[in-house]
Amino acid sequence: MKYFIVTYGCQMNVHESEKIAGILENLGYSEAEKREDADIIVFNTCAIREGAEDRVFGNVGNLKKMKKRNRDLIIAVCGCMTQKENTAKHLMQTFPFVDIVLGTFNLSRLGEFVQKVRMGRQMEILSEGDIDESLPYKRTSGENAWVNIMQGCNNFCTYCIVPYVRGREKSRSQENILNEIKSIIAENKYKKITLLGQNVNSYGNDLSDGSNFASLLKAICELNGDFKLSFMTSHPKDLTDEVIDVIANEEKIEKYIHLPAQSGNDRILKLMNRKYTREKYLSIINKIRAKIPTCRITSDFIVGFPSETEEEFEDTYSLVKEVRFDSIFAFMYSPREGTVASKMEEQISNDVKHNRVNRLLALEKQIQQEDNKR
Ligand code: SAH
Ligand code: SF4
Ligand code: F3S
Repeated sequence: MKYFIVTYGCQMNVHESEKIAGILENLGYSEAEKREDADIIVFNTCAIREGAEDRVFGNVGNLKKMKKRNRDLIIAVCGCMTQKENTAKHLMQTFPFVDIVLGTFNLSRLGEFVQKVRMGRQMEILSEGDIDESLPYKRTSGENAWVNIMQGCNNFCTYCIVPYVRGREKSRSQENILNEIKSIIAENKYKKITLLGQNVNSYGNDLSDGSNFASLLKAICELNGDFKLSFMTSHPKDLTDEVIDVIANEEKIEKYIHLPAQSGNDRILKLMNRKYTREKYLSIINKIRAKIPTCRITSDFIVGFPSETEEEFEDTYSLVKEVRFDSIFAFMYSPREGTVASKMEEQISNDVKHNRVNRLLALEKQIQQEDNKR
């Protein structure tokens, strides 16, 4: 019996697909090279922008023929998209041939559901479950081992669906994280360890043992072993001087920070509920560059947030020009049902969003070309 996993979205999902692979291998499945060879196909979905969801609908729809040819083929859809009740229902109605729809909180029950489907039952659950830390992983990212240090997000940036589909922040204990990393080191297969969280800088805020992200980084660097340490994502409001110092001082830590700015305009940043200003963001960049001159810095931007004017977009443009990021991701704002921003008036037209995103990306390309020449 063979499985095939299709992954959308962020590194968190890439890592969770390793969990899905682990669960399926425990059931006796092995990996198929292509989806046509599979007995079970799992879509691990993302809900961050409408485009991500559209792709899932398209790709799941394409399986109808395959399912007709092979009635025993199991199709499962899980991840952030199916954590949203309306979307999960819509998916089940549109594609009655899908066997399993599971939200992010219930991933640990995938094995149980696969067994049930094999006995001829289709079902869906979405209730809050408990994330099971003991699930086996089948690591698939070559020399890099992902390590989750926390779940969820408390920030409620007004455009973002993540807090709704991933729940509140919950840090794993330092002890559990260190044990996982020790066993990764002992395997002797990985050169790099990447810590994952939606906002790694707030690691430990919900723990009572006094540990924070800086102390976690230090504790990991003290472990014996030849590895590089990396992490994502950092929220500017929580990136402390202490963390910058640890990155500067620890040889094992990669000199790289992904620091999403989202906008360069204070009114928009406020509407986004980002809790920092352009000036504060720039002061963090200056601090990083003063302490770690070789540090690569990358960022994310959203253009066309509701009511963003041309002048306000130009503040984002000038921020990119000023900082000269090593690279950026630029996204057109996509309204997500249930978020605060999706209800705001003055939604921006697609044409304007396209125009702004293209200008921002062209600027970044020009900066990269100039820096490469240098
Ligand atoms: N937790 C991370 C990133 C999460 S999502 C952080 O806080 O930085 C990755 C990126 O997707 C975000 O940085 C943002 O730029 C973009 N994004 C999130 N919601 C979006 C939306 N509704 N429309 C367009 N882009 C969005
Ligand atoms: Fe979304 Fe903001 Fe949380 Fe990042 S910090 S996951 S953008 S709510
Ligand atoms: Fe997408 Fe979920 Fe990640 S919405 S970006 S896969 S946390």
